[in-house]
Formats: sequence, C-alpha cells, structure tokens
Amino acid sequence: MSILAANRASIARAARILCGGGIVAFPTETVYGLGALAFEPLAVARVFEAKKRPSFDPLIVHVLDRSMLSQVANELSGVAERLARHFWPGPLTLVLAKSESVPDLVTSGLQSVAVRMPSHPVARALLEQVNAPIAAPSANPFGSLSPTRAEHVAKGLGSNVDLILDAGSSEHGLESTIVTCDPVPTLLRPGAIPVESIEAIAGSLARPAGGPVAAPGQLPYHYAPGTPLRVIDPSAVPSSQRARAGLLTLRDEFVGYAALRVLSRRGDLREAAAAFFEALHALDALGLERIDAAPLPEIGLGLAMMDRLARAAARA
Ligand code: TXA
Ligand code: MG
Repeated sequence: MSILAANRASIARAARILCGGGIVAFPTETVYGLGALAFEPLAVARVFEAKKRPSFDPLIVHVLDRSMLSQVANELSGVAERLARHFWPGPLTLVLAKSESVPDLVTSGLQSVAVRMPSHPVARALLEQVNAPIAAPSANPFGSLSPTRAEHVAKGLGSNVDLILDAGSSEHGLESTIVTCDPVPTLLRPGAIPVESIEAIAGSLARPAGGPVAAPGQLPYHYAPGTPLRVIDPSAVPSSQRARAGLLTLRDEFVGYAALRVLSRRGDLREAAAAFFEALHALDALGLERIDAAPLPEIGLGLAMMDRLARAAARA
C-alpha cells in the first residue's frame, strides 16, 4: 500500500489499478471512499473483505455524469429528478431502481441501487479515467469512524488497500445524505446536506420511525471509536469522572477533562461537521477511558452528527 498525493500521475496510476481489478482509496467531498469498479464483482468482493463489511450492507455507486448514471439505474423522474438537478454533483445519494447489469454483491441483492455523483475533482478525474461507475463505501473498517484524511485510511485499512490518493481533509467531513423517493420521499441517512435543504426541494421527507434511520445496513452500532463513547450533558458529569475522559463539544468548554475537542468556537454546525470525525479520531488515539460527547442541536448538520454519535454510543 502506498499513499500518493493526488495529481495527474497518481490518479492515472489509481485508474490503472482499478481497471486491473484492484481497490483504491480516494478523496470525495464527504469522506474518503474505498473504490472498486462496480461492474467487477471480484474487485467489489475485495472491498467487502478489506472493510470486514457484512455482505448484507450494500454499497454506494459513484458516477461521473448522467450518461454513466444510465448504466446503473433507470431514468430519474419527479422528485428524484428535481433533487438530482439541484444537488448533483454533490453529497446527495439517491436510492433508485437498479438496472439488471449491476452485480448483486453491490446492492446486497436489493432491486435498488444507491447512487451519487461526487463533486470532488479527484473523484471526478478518477471516474473520467476509468470511464465506468465506481462502487465505494467509506474507507474505514466496518462500524468504525469514517476517514476524513488519507492517514485515517492508512491507519484503519493499511495493507488491504492497493493505493491511497491523498488530497488533504474532506470538505464536508460527514457522509452523503441518503434519500429514496420510492414509494414516498424518505430520509434514509442524514448527512452532509442538511435535511432542511433537501426538504426545500422535495417537500417534507418521511423519516423511518424510532430515532436512528433504518436503511439496510444502517445498524444501530456504527461510526464508533474504539474508546467507549456516551452522549451526555457535561455539566451533569462529576469531576471525578472527568479525569480520565475526553470531551467532544460544539463550543462550550468544561474543566477537568483529560482532553477536550471543541468543534466550532463560533458554534457553526458546518465548521463543526468538517471537524467532527477528525476530532473523534484524535480523541480515540489518546487511550482514554471514555469519550463524553455533549449533545448537539438537532437542526441542520447537527442532526447528522447526533445520528453518528447515537450509533457510536450504541456500541459501548
Ligand atoms: O458520502 C458518502 O456517501 C461516502 C462516500 C465515499 O461516497 N460513502 C459512504 O458509503 O458513506 P457507506 O457504504 O459507508 O454507506 C452507504 C450506506 C450504507 O449504510 C447502506 O446501507 C446504504 O448506504 N445503502 C446502499 N445501498 C442502499 C440501497 N439500495 N437501499 C438503501 N440503502 C442503501
Ligand atoms: Mg460507512
């Protein structure tokens, strides 16, 4: 495995690896992805292996443009078309009826396929060079924190990946927002586009009942650091419990914690989202007894971060 700064030569090399059946980690505007050519089931199987991902958890297929989209899904219509026009290229994933040619392994046997058209120039250059859809989940071991930097990928997946393209920190720092329009517009995963922005285009979205959203593979335990994590109001934590714990907060500081990560001094949720996984990776590396996460406001990107925290806490 090697990490190469993303440039023309390294992207061309990554494309050759993909076309030869290899797997490559690459930057997107949300988080780093671990890609294989979507129409090469053996390469896709390597992605599942490298992540230790259960085969019932389907992958997102990345496409360059509408013509590539037509290889994996049928024509868009209605709300899906409006959403695609508004948010693509960008961090929106649409779950669509799949074309027959998409391998079952990619969709875990579902008749639908999750598709997104990324905006990141490196992801786009890679798609252009391989000239084929790329299936790519986040480039982390299954269930653990998502990678927002090449170093996170190297630490989590290491030698299981043929090449890592490095383009610095991810812009959004949270995974794409996943929506299905069938049978009704529904939020499957809150993500980098605030749900309010989606609803401004799609009208109000159904939300699968009972807190964390229920997409296949949207398991209750997910996005978890190795260190036990709980969501708790820090002012309710006695100082005796703070000494060997780390704290993740939006803007307020609390004394007595062994380590502290403030996501945005201005309380800006977009800035906080971009720093979110990075802060969790950093706290996780300190060998603390526990991570306390102060609740975030559940509006805008705060909803997506709280979704990730609830799943991380479910593992503890
Ligand atoms: O921002 C992102 O979406 C990143 C970058 C790399 O594109 N990718 C990503 O992929 O987060 P992953 O595999 O970590 O999450 C994909 C989620 C899974 O939870 C899966 O259950 C859901 O998408 N999914 C995939 N296909 C689906 C389908 N046909 N129906 C419903 N959910 C689906
Ligand atoms: Mg993931």
